[in-house]
Amino acid sequence: MAERIAEEKINQIRQSVDIVEIISEYVQLKKQGRNYFGLCPFHGENSPSFSVSSDKQIYHCFGCGAGGNVFSFLMELEGISFLEAAIKLAEKANIDLQVNFSVNGKGKSVSPELQSMLDAHELLNKFYHHLLVNTKDGQHALEYLLKRGFSRESIDKFQIGYSLNSWDFVYKFLTKRDFSPELMEKAGLIIKRERDGTYFDRFRDRIMFPIFDRNGNTIAFSGRSLGAEEPKYLNSPETVIFNKSKILYNFHLAKPSIRKLQQAVLFEGFADVIAADRSGVENGIATMGTSLTDEHITLIRQNTQSITICFDSDKAGIEAAFRAGNMLIDAGCTIKVAMMSDGLDPDDYIKKNGHEKFRNEVIGASLTWMAFKFLYFRRGKNLQIEGDRLAYIETILKEISKLTKAVEKDHYLRQLASEFSISLDALQQQLKQIFFSEKRNSNGQNQPINKPSVMVKQVNKLKPAHYTAERRLIAHMLRNRDTAYKVQDLLQGNTFNLDEHQAIITYLIGFYEDHMNPDSSAFLTYIQDEKLRRIVADIEMMSVNDELSNQELTDYIKQVLNYQKLLKIKEKEVEQKEAERQSDFKKAAAIGIEIIQLRKSL
Ligand code: UTP
Ligand code: MN
Repeated sequence: MAERIAEEKINQIRQSVDIVEIISEYVQLKKQGRNYFGLCPFHGENSPSFSVSSDKQIYHCFGCGAGGNVFSFLMELEGISFLEAAIKLAEKANIDLQVNFSVNGKGKSVSPELQSMLDAHELLNKFYHHLLVNTKDGQHALEYLLKRGFSRESIDKFQIGYSLNSWDFVYKFLTKRDFSPELMEKAGLIIKRERDGTYFDRFRDRIMFPIFDRNGNTIAFSGRSLGAEEPKYLNSPETVIFNKSKILYNFHLAKPSIRKLQQAVLFEGFADVIAADRSGVENGIATMGTSLTDEHITLIRQNTQSITICFDSDKAGIEAAFRAGNMLIDAGCTIKVAMMSDGLDPDDYIKKNGHEKFRNEVIGASLTWMAFKFLYFRRGKNLQIEGDRLAYIETILKEISKLTKAVEKDHYLRQLASEFSISLDALQQQLKQIFFSEKRNSNGQNQPINKPSVMVKQVNKLKPAHYTAERRLIAHMLRNRDTAYKVQDLLQGNTFNLDEHQAIITYLIGFYEDHMNPDSSAFLTYIQDEKLRRIVADIEMMSVNDELSNQELTDYIKQVLNYQKLLKIKEKEVEQKEAERQSDFKKAAAIGIEIIQLRKSL
């Protein structure tokens, strides 16, 4: 896409949207002093390092270094281009960009091919739904759903439909409306016959569950057979618009509730999501029959860090819950596990026991992650037998040793002690041993994801004086145009010691040539280079005094220049040694004088 948006329009967009409002759609922000803080959406963490400044309209993460303005936020988070971010923001701000490319639901610009795929899905979705609820052809399917406990309300809410028992209905339906068969094949809606190149419908005589992306566009279908026909669920293949490892069923509808409750419920199947929704559990999501991926986790984590896993309570479901739980824990989430009796799945449980019991005795009585592990490791063991019992205790102690909170450790140790009538002392002793042997074994490679935040903070503290001085100077230069020029003068043609710092001030002076006033957010767009942008966002977030006294200013400049002199002195010292080695004592003495003069000037 070669379209460009005029700079005035970009400025207009920037001035009309509020970064706090935009970021709040993805991150829970709390006001603290002048800025807002929250959990960084770009890396996993437990304590907030992500800050947003309303005054400056920028964000910065002290943990991973992400930073920028409202445009770069959307670009990085949604993986979209500057143009797409601009379109999306313009739409929010009701600004007419007068650009003529197609834009789908939420302002993401798409190629005509993608748009056509989305249109076909949208159209079919409506049609399938109509067939199910209004026609004789769909009556048996509707009866099947109602018998299974689906309500008319949820059939509408989830836009469930029915595909006709026909080989070419969809093919004809789409080609009659000028959709290209090649493209519809790529979209996964029809299939090409090898032998003669003709097409037939992928979904026939199935209950149709539309799959939506996070903006509510229909991007795929899953069709459930009405009888024993295999597969039970037939899914759209992976296409350019449908990527299973990124999509969570019901995410677009569940999002507001997930954010409000600060809790998501993860199910295995979409029948479960829909049944739970009828029970009033509206924050339910599910993968598309695949295991959980890092991309799914990132999407969830942008909205909450607290997840209840509610998988089938059979063997496969419990194993899957253990795997998913570990992945989520590693990403810094808090996990609970909801279990049902008799190996039921949530949908069956609700049918059997009703909505209220599901809410109170399943979701409401979820186990903590540790309590779930107590059960998990117990399966298949006979704790009456000493060998099994000791192995079990050892496994649980290992898990307890991983806990970070002393209170929790104590709680579970006591539980273990009382259950097996072992003295607390003995358990504590063994826990210590486990702790030290694990420490020996760990080579430091397996850092949890939330480590960097601490590391970066520590590294910053150890920076040399000239580094800090340069950053402070840049901080003042960003806030005041006159200071920028003053620093430029005082440097007398010298540059900052760090290349990135020098690059930033070069950009900044350029920016001030045609901007009379500082503008943090506009400057970040001006820079473009991502690495520099992050550094600028970091410096913007530093707290410095409003006024820069002359004393402070000259001190900083001195530190910048002194470092260069120190380097020069080191260089001279090497030269001097070399001269001495060659017995050129005259030269060595001359260099010695230079060194003394340089030292004096420090
Ligand atoms: P389940 O077999 O547990 O189905 O598959 P379910 O949710 O209980 O559905 P009902 O109640 O029998 O209708 C769980 C999930 O695995 C995927 C689907 O996403 C389903 O929701 N799946 C299952 C498939 O993709 N294909 C299949 O053939 C079966
Ligand atoms: Mn089921």
